[in-house]
Amino acid sequence: MQLNNPKLFNKSSFINGQWLTSDESFTVVNPADEQNICQISEVTSEQVEQAVNSAYTALSGWQALTVDERSEKMRRWYELIVENKDDLAKIMTAEQGKPLKEASGEVLYGAKYIQWYSEEAKRINGDVLPINQKGRRALVLKRPIGVVTAITPWNFPGAMILRKASAALAAGCCMVVKPSELTPLSALALAQLSQEAGIPEGVFNVVVGSQSQAIGEILTMHPKVAKFSFTGSTAVGKKLLHQCASTVKKTSMELGGNAPFIAFEDADLEAVVKGAMGSKFRNAGQTCVCANRIFVHASIHEQFVTKLAEKVAELKVGDGYLEGVEIGPLIEPKAIAKVEKLVKQAIESGARVVAGGEKIASKGNFYQPTILTGVTPEMDIFNTEIFGPVAAIIKFESEEEVIRLANQTEYGLCSYAYTQSLNRMWRLSENLQFGMVGINEGVLSNPAAPFGGIKESGMGREGGRWGIEDYLETRYVCLGNVE
Ligand code: SIN
Repeated sequence: MQLNNPKLFNKSSFINGQWLTSDESFTVVNPADEQNICQISEVTSEQVEQAVNSAYTALSGWQALTVDERSEKMRRWYELIVENKDDLAKIMTAEQGKPLKEASGEVLYGAKYIQWYSEEAKRINGDVLPINQKGRRALVLKRPIGVVTAITPWNFPGAMILRKASAALAAGCCMVVKPSELTPLSALALAQLSQEAGIPEGVFNVVVGSQSQAIGEILTMHPKVAKFSFTGSTAVGKKLLHQCASTVKKTSMELGGNAPFIAFEDADLEAVVKGAMGSKFRNAGQTCVCANRIFVHASIHEQFVTKLAEKVAELKVGDGYLEGVEIGPLIEPKAIAKVEKLVKQAIESGARVVAGGEKIASKGNFYQPTILTGVTPEMDIFNTEIFGPVAAIIKFESEEEVIRLANQTEYGLCSYAYTQSLNRMWRLSENLQFGMVGINEGVLSNPAAPFGGIKESGMGREGGRWGIEDYLETRYVCLGNVE
């Protein structure tokens, strides 16, 4: 891989400011051509322990800095990420597959969290409470929670790390992050830049390894860890929550989704199609907030399907390095098999294929951008997070019916609705049981806003003033006998 800054290409864990190797290694594969990119040194259990201990030791120094000093270092990290965005995007496309333009967008999106929280570090305010007894004063302090560990996913190999690290570091916490073993290179490049930015050793550590269970056990059960943050599937999140319970850690869980995308009869059809394309096909459908079930009012169903099919036909699928490609590969063969199974079961149960519907028979994990109509709640595709470029369309007749169907899922991450009615907008915002509601908007993420879900989509929020709360503890100080 040709990089302007070859120092960004690292192949071992970053612990206490050092690159630590071991005798074992694992392979990182490019999902577009299934070629090996490189071997990465497998982190050992001792090294993971060492990372936690380093973060613990680094706490006092990091917290001793003034907020301005912490903020400046974070700001520098942000600037370096932006300066190196082309290299970071190249690395991301190689290991994750998303088109280069989208990878570059993710780098900037993740960097924005560091920028935003470098400022928010200055606004961690406590409270002085009204006097309720003579000679007594009451204060509330906000304190950094301590060592934070995190496990992050392969679908956003950069942004999901930066979204957590930004709030953690701004709060005065130190961190150990384990990126997915499918996409460790982006995380290691960010670690290199954190060092160049002057973030002190031990404050930000990255452990890379394929032994997820063993590493996860240390990160979730180590007594020196105060908080654990996870982005990934609900099934894995539940297991990790159990592990965190053993030492009562504070947790943030950004888990699976099954987003409804609702187009009402009064919607602006052009905006609906644009929103559906963005929400459904971003990252080849591999986002937790992807439109998973597209509900379309019967009166505009035909027009919508025709227009969506026209747009889908224009999508260029291929290696993310190639000019004009908008849909890259799925992450691995297992992901293709899952999508194939869901589509097959839907067709057998009565869904109609309007576009696509098959794996692309070439090297790499490519699946055709697909449109299915006639999807019903009985089909697996209605109830499962697809994580692939398949638009599953359901016709509806009334608002009451569609709200009921939209909420008919154990997930509660994100939802979308298109309407021109202000009254309906309010009803939807209040009655859709999801942590996020996009009205006439298909892509919502924003560093200033609280990203996160309810129900089995998790707990905690990332972004904005809500995000930093997850890395702080609230301490009540009572002063007595004040003269
Ligand atoms: C996710 O899929 O979890 C992240 C999507 C986003 O940040 O927009």
